[in-house]
Amino acid sequence: GYGVMAGLGVTLLSGCGSRQLISMGDLASGFNREVAFMSIFAIVMSVIIFVAVSYALFYTVNKFRDDKNTAPPAQFHGNNRLEVILVVVPVIIVMALAVLTVRSMAILNPVPDQASKIDVLARQFWWNFSYPEVKADAGGNVTNGNEMIMPTKQSVALTITSGDVIHGFWAPNIGGQRAAMPATLKTWNVDIDRAAVYQGNCTQLCGASHANMRYKVIALDQARYNSFLAAAKAYRAPEPAADSAEARGYAIFMQGKPATGALACAACHRIQGTTAAGVAGPDLSFFGTRRTLGAGMWEFMEEEHWETPRAKEILHAWIKHSPYVKPGSLMPTYDGSEYTANGKQVKGGVLTDEEIDDVAAYLRTLKLPEEANYWNDTP
Ligand code: CUA
Repeated sequence: GYGVMAGLGVTLLSGCGSRQLISMGDLASGFNREVAFMSIFAIVMSVIIFVAVSYALFYTVNKFRDDKNTAPPAQFHGNNRLEVILVVVPVIIVMALAVLTVRSMAILNPVPDQASKIDVLARQFWWNFSYPEVKADAGGNVTNGNEMIMPTKQSVALTITSGDVIHGFWAPNIGGQRAAMPATLKTWNVDIDRAAVYQGNCTQLCGASHANMRYKVIALDQARYNSFLAAAKAYRAPEPAADSAEARGYAIFMQGKPATGALACAACHRIQGTTAAGVAGPDLSFFGTRRTLGAGMWEFMEEEHWETPRAKEILHAWIKHSPYVKPGSLMPTYDGSEYTANGKQVKGGVLTDEEIDDVAAYLRTLKLPEEANYWNDTP
């Protein structure tokens, strides 16, 4: 699929007004420019070789054609000059490709001192993007689940790891595919010139919802990026008003519902500025600002994203029994049913439909201030 998308090119796709660009032919990133240069070199060499070999073949067949003669052809042993050429020329071509490859690696791989840093954590089947240089005033590092905000026109050093199996990090516009491996930290540079939303996917078969392990990369111009980071640093989850649906949702989120065995969401999720500090699931600090659910399985790109009936219905189903709507999801069910994913039984007790809607109402309040709403001025 990527190859086809790459063939279409970024201009075609952006021409459709798409909010998510996906192309490895996007020359707005240094990585893709290097790859394009090497690809063009390799393609030109291939064409030259193809034409030369085809010419030699047809020339030989035509020139030495002698279909009237039934006597055996002249017998001879080897041709030293030709054999030397046939060895030396390919060696030169391969060496040129090797030199160009090493050159590109030397340009792309070193992490510049001034690079912004983002830590990428891949897990079945979601992503956390955290900013190791931005300590939140409320404690912990600024972190966003499944939506990665990065600055344009500078190197961004991604330190990629996995919390379980091997995943693949690839948002084709911003750089090449990188493995996310458990117990391994690898740092890679990415960069992009254009402020826009880019599509990222897991590119390593990693389980039942490998195909549902997507993310967005939202590239913001430097000033917008800085205001995002500043507001995200200062962010504290809003306190719900007393006796509201949000307050009831907040209580369930933090404490669960012991009477029916419903587990606390806070056991697995973090919300900046609250006591919720779980790390088994994606960070929900800016959930209300996000426009994707289930690691990009659903997108709500309408202006009033979470307030649409469709979003409400999907979010309700998600909280109620996530593994039924996303295979392999390790989030427990809250409808009382038992579900086994990855050999683990996920059963979170029972919440009523009203209680589920209360939790959803609370999640919708978790919004960054407007100046940090990174969806605002994306094309
Ligand atoms: Cu993670 Cu495929």
